Amino acid sequence: MATDRIDTLLDEQRSFAPPAAFARGAHVRDRAPYERAAHDREGYWADWARQLQWVRPWDRVLEWKPPHAKWFVGGKLNASVNCLDRHVAAGRGDKTAIVWEGEPGEVRRITYSELHADVSRFANVLKGLGVARGDRVAVYMPMVPEVVVAMLACARIGAPHTVVFGGFSAESLRDRINDAQAKVLVTADGGYRRGTVVTLKQHADDAVRDCPSIRHVVVLRRTGQPVPMQPGRDVWWHERTSAAAPQCEPEVMDAEDPLFILYTSGTTGKPKGILHTTGGYLTHVFATTKWVFDLTENDVFWCTADVGWVTGHSYIVYGPLALGVTQVMYEGAPDHPAKDRFWGICARHGVTVFYTAPTAIRAFMKWGVEHPARHDLSQLRLLGTVGEPINPEAWMWYHQHIGKERCPIVDTWWQTETGGIMITPLPGVVTTKPGSATVPFPGIEAKLLDGEGGEVATGGGYLAITSPWPGMLRTIWGDDERYRQQYWTKWPGVYFPGDGAKRDDNGYFWILGRVDDVLNVAGHRIGTMEVESALVDHPAVAEAAVVGKAHDLKGQAIAAFVTLKEGHTTTDALREELKGHVAKKIGALARPDDVLFAADLPKTRSGKIMRRLLKDIAEGRALGDTTTLADPGVVSRLKDQYEERES
Ligand code: PRX
Repeated sequence: MATDRIDTLLDEQRSFAPPAAFARGAHVRDRAPYERAAHDREGYWADWARQLQWVRPWDRVLEWKPPHAKWFVGGKLNASVNCLDRHVAAGRGDKTAIVWEGEPGEVRRITYSELHADVSRFANVLKGLGVARGDRVAVYMPMVPEVVVAMLACARIGAPHTVVFGGFSAESLRDRINDAQAKVLVTADGGYRRGTVVTLKQHADDAVRDCPSIRHVVVLRRTGQPVPMQPGRDVWWHERTSAAAPQCEPEVMDAEDPLFILYTSGTTGKPKGILHTTGGYLTHVFATTKWVFDLTENDVFWCTADVGWVTGHSYIVYGPLALGVTQVMYEGAPDHPAKDRFWGICARHGVTVFYTAPTAIRAFMKWGVEHPARHDLSQLRLLGTVGEPINPEAWMWYHQHIGKERCPIVDTWWQTETGGIMITPLPGVVTTKPGSATVPFPGIEAKLLDGEGGEVATGGGYLAITSPWPGMLRTIWGDDERYRQQYWTKWPGVYFPGDGAKRDDNGYFWILGRVDDVLNVAGHRIGTMEVESALVDHPAVAEAAVVGKAHDLKGQAIAAFVTLKEGHTTTDALREELKGHVAKKIGALARPDDVLFAADLPKTRSGKIMRRLLKDIAEGRALGDTTTLADPGVVSRLKDQYEERES
């Protein structure tokens, strides 16, 4: 039906072929893998799985009973063995696995052998606390190497971990622990964030008071601040690990045994416990880490995500460690002690491949080019982004000021639910276009469909994944019905990720944002990303969020919330100029009725703009659920500002 199609307005014509020098040395230099995967998808994924170490090979690659998939049926393996033991056994034990920088400035280097011993010790500690195969362990920690140790120790003994981002409140932690029925919680006395100490243990204590499933709390000493320890329940990490043996026999896990549960709330609703299993997930993240980031022996990879998000699970812990690369891990904020912290880290540790989020890139744009300009970024050879659509101007800024027009950019589309990267350029072969995640990874089948399931060849529609993939979620923990309802009811046997997208004449995918956020102006359905990108195209604008506001004639009118780059001031003239800029760039239809200048936009703790709340403000309603906001003050200030203007 034409009415549920999404109109496309933005016409981005710039394109960038892989630089010749890069393409020459890349893992993938031609289109053969795309053809191989299209011809024999299961055989192709089995080739990847064979690059892992299995205790027993699988009998069947895929069993697909929609909406449930099993990959590598009958295969046995252990994820921690794949991330540690096999590198040590191959004589690579002295290779640095993690170069860690604490926010206060200390640096630790941990080799694969050391990580192996630490993981084994902590696995023994967990066993000593009564954790057995199948038990859940909650992890609520700062970005320190021990969080990786805790996760891999769980994997070693077959206890699924559920990591809760350290910025979440006691209530959020409590709800997740109770949903997962975790037996042990691993936390720390505190962590450093923007120069202050985060009181993790206090939040943990508040949460665990209402968590009857928790038997023990393991506490890492990170900051040294005094914390109460409840006798019989709480134990110190250092005391237990120093008494533990550095060897621990790994559990032999089935390919389909759970590896972890990770809660995602997206921008709405009760958090869903996304369940990932072992063999398929590991295969997917191994394959994508290797080809998308093009990693080889001498690379230094840095994924700036927190391990509390899926990006940290897949591209800090399981992907890079399964591949055996050296990576950087950083504890703190990008602007502490100054706005050049990330670039100092890149230069100090010789980062070659850098992976971050559009929200971070827009902050860098806002802060100004002088910060990266102060550092030697010549080691960088590849850049990546994930988490939101990247506005073409933010892409160009990244390309010019970080990549120095030398580094390809991989814009990677995926989700907590997909486990690994789904739509992305392979940097040695795919020509990139600013704002497009380009094409599906080999072995992934994506289409653009309309509401009836008809394929949209060019133009806007709904993104759909039309066949199962190894890293896919297996269910929602404890709620298989919600799993079916949420992802599999739009079209039979097809996965609906909830995003709108468009395809151009080359078949490239351009993600337009969550379909819940799509605007409907005078019968035209417009993705938020296109209007926001037109705003960000203006030299004064750092970041923009647009929402549809009820309108008598048009159905919806566009309200835009805009933050400016440093050095620009908010004036009525600029407001009018911005409206005109959007009209000129993508059409009069998309001209915002309203532009509000904001110091900050409301975001989730993982940096996604929460348009739902902006809509509440624009329509003069009471604010909806604000519990997943990083800074609830941002919306209340905006609401006051908006109401003042209206009155
Ligand atoms: O809307 C898409 C957006 O983020 C959603 C998934 O969020 P989450 O589960 O938190 O995982 C984020 C890290 C993988 C998607 O449904 N998204 C993610 N990457 C992109 C993106 N939107 C556009 N372009 C991307 N590269």
